[in-house]
Amino acid sequence: MKSALITGINGQDGSYLAELLLEKGYEVYGLMRRKSVVDYGNVEHIKDKVNFIYGDMTDLVSLINAVKVSKADEVYNLAAQSFVGTSWEQPVATVEIDGVGVTNLLEAIRIVKPSARFYQASTSEMFGLVQEIPQKETTPFYPRSPYGVAKLYGHWITKNYRESYDLYACSGILFNHESERRGKEFVTRKITDAVARIKHGIQDYLELGNMDSKRDWGHSKDYVKAMWLMLQQNVADDYVIATNETRTVREFVETAFAHVDIKVKWQGSGVDEIGINEATGKIIVKINPKFFRPAEVDILIGDPAKAESKLGWEREISFSQLVERMVANDMKLVEKEMKIDQINLKEKEIAIN
Ligand code: NAP
Ligand code: GDD
Repeated sequence: MKSALITGINGQDGSYLAELLLEKGYEVYGLMRRKSVVDYGNVEHIKDKVNFIYGDMTDLVSLINAVKVSKADEVYNLAAQSFVGTSWEQPVATVEIDGVGVTNLLEAIRIVKPSARFYQASTSEMFGLVQEIPQKETTPFYPRSPYGVAKLYGHWITKNYRESYDLYACSGILFNHESERRGKEFVTRKITDAVARIKHGIQDYLELGNMDSKRDWGHSKDYVKAMWLMLQQNVADDYVIATNETRTVREFVETAFAHVDIKVKWQGSGVDEIGINEATGKIIVKINPKFFRPAEVDILIGDPAKAESKLGWEREISFSQLVERMVANDMKLVEKEMKIDQINLKEKEIAIN
């Protein structure tokens, strides 16, 4: 039985990767940060099948311990301060976790088990101010956020340890991937959550920042398969994982509302742009400048040709299916929340009477 260590196991990708590796018969170990209230996040449903190890990417000793305890054949480094917006508010923490943390983990592997295969979660955010369209493995990098800069360090240190110490170390340059488990601060989940609330009449409108920025959006479940494939090759290498399609945030909004039969009509421009429910005339989308970033990545579109030909990777979930799944999931969650609120209200009324 192979053993795998996943950092960031309770995040979006960590949970899908853990499910995939358990299906393949791996012994799965997950590195998790200690919290004041125990919270398994996205792996609550499989927590009995995973071996949890407390640790932190900024604590080398905890990583040495994690590699020792897990005796990992494969190490997937998914842990990160992953929200680009926050990286301007916490630039130092971001680089300590997303940059230096990668060196810590590589050192732990080099010291404890150099035969372990290593996956680094690199990102399309490293392309930033894009130098080529579409972006591929050879496209020059130009990061536009402290997050992008920190991840670029993580990317190069992975390559450097591969070349310096002959470690089997790969970077997956993954473009945006979302899911029903996506954090609600990311634009896709923020939109699908708001669509469900607006449809149910418990939210009036959705506030967004830059709706013109374009992203190449896939589903996390497809993307974790690529991570695993990268560690099953004869030679370690880096790969772009993307759909080769790009859409604006505005198009995502339109598609999400369409899934609950709401047609959005746009009026105005810039910060005065509004989205109106065509059937009711109500404003359902507004711009709030607080959601704009100090520097923006205007367009991302990746070319996954190398991964498709060398790894045999292909995505299965289309953009429309992705949005449909996210909206359907949020509709269910909001309905559940409303039912619980009703029960609580009834119980309060009974107590008062
Ligand atoms: P996510 O949901 O935000 O998960 C990040 C995970 O990292 C969480 O489990 C978090 O734990 C953990 N973490 C944060 N700081 C840590 C620390 N100091 N020590 C240990 N664990 C820490 O992110 P994701 O979407 O699954 O992404 C996975 C990885 O892929 C990240 O490295 C991200 O930067 C990268 N990536 C993501 C995308 C994308 O579109 N999703 C694209 C390219 C690359 P807590 O619960 O304790 O915070
Ligand atoms: N979050 C957010 N909230 N983004 C908004 C909003 C808003 O209200 N309004 C517009 N946007 C725009 C952002 O300015 C950005 O251009 C785009 O929507 C996507 O933002 P996010 O969903 O926050 O994702 P991201 O592209 O910045 O970063 C994600 O993808 C990277 C890969 O390219 C994260 O998952 C990163 O961890 C990942 O590396």
